[in-house]
Amino acid sequence: MKNCPIGIFDSGVGGLSVFAELIKLLPDENYIYFGDTLNLPYGAKTQAQLIDITSTIFDFFKTQNVKAVVMACNTTSAAAYDALKDKYNFKIYPIVQRAAKQIANENHKKIGIFATQATINSHAYKREIQKYSPNTEVFELACPKWVSIVENNLQNTPESIKDIKLQLDLMLKNNVEKIVLGCTHYPYLLNILKKFAPENMFINPAKYFAQDIYQDLKQNDLISDKKFFEPKFFVSSNPEQFMLSSKLFYNVQNAEEISITIIPA
Ligand code: DGL
Repeated sequence: MKNCPIGIFDSGVGGLSVFAELIKLLPDENYIYFGDTLNLPYGAKTQAQLIDITSTIFDFFKTQNVKAVVMACNTTSAAAYDALKDKYNFKIYPIVQRAAKQIANENHKKIGIFATQATINSHAYKREIQKYSPNTEVFELACPKWVSIVENNLQNTPESIKDIKLQLDLMLKNNVEKIVLGCTHYPYLLNILKKFAPENMFINPAKYFAQDIYQDLKQNDLISDKKFFEPKFFVSSNPEQFMLSSKLFYNVQNAEEISITIIPA
């Protein structure tokens, strides 16, 4: 079992910001990454659609005989994890629930969450943080344009910078001490965000999440004892764009297109 693959997925390149943290701690694992580029943005989908998409992805990972699936996607962790968590015989790690617990331990007075519309609608970050730190005030704000900015490599256009600053200014009005980048695409925008606020104000949940996964695999004696070097990448459309936009966190050289997710209109 310990040498079986780890599945990791997101709607596109965002999950690579988690993958980059994971391979620092667990470099020898056999990884299978899936970017669901056909169905992005997840943030604009309903909960029922997200459950449907996620179960299709889990079914795919089941065929790959994975030992664990890393939900490197805040939106599906927030909207679909609860519905699916007991239906599979591999370990499932959801980023929101796993990272929020550790963020809560820092006991901030006021904390901001930037996330997709579906994550914000679920209030999952607020709920999970306040479960462990009831006195923390949590301010949530959706940033609906940011995923397509990252997927299309438009970080540095004047319109993108304007939108990023606008959202940041709105959040800063709440006098938050920290802002959680609660969508895996948003760490790709840190270079812009840090022009307008101190870099250490931003929390990348992937760092906490990777540490948590590492500890859990270790406790369960599930860390691979073989060395696997080449992760496999799959996408549901447009591998060229995926490879182009991937570069900041992991330079994907080869991505295979597979058709696994069909969502009713
Ligand atoms: N990157 C994903 C997340 O962490 C989903 C983004 C999207 O497709 O809207 O929420």
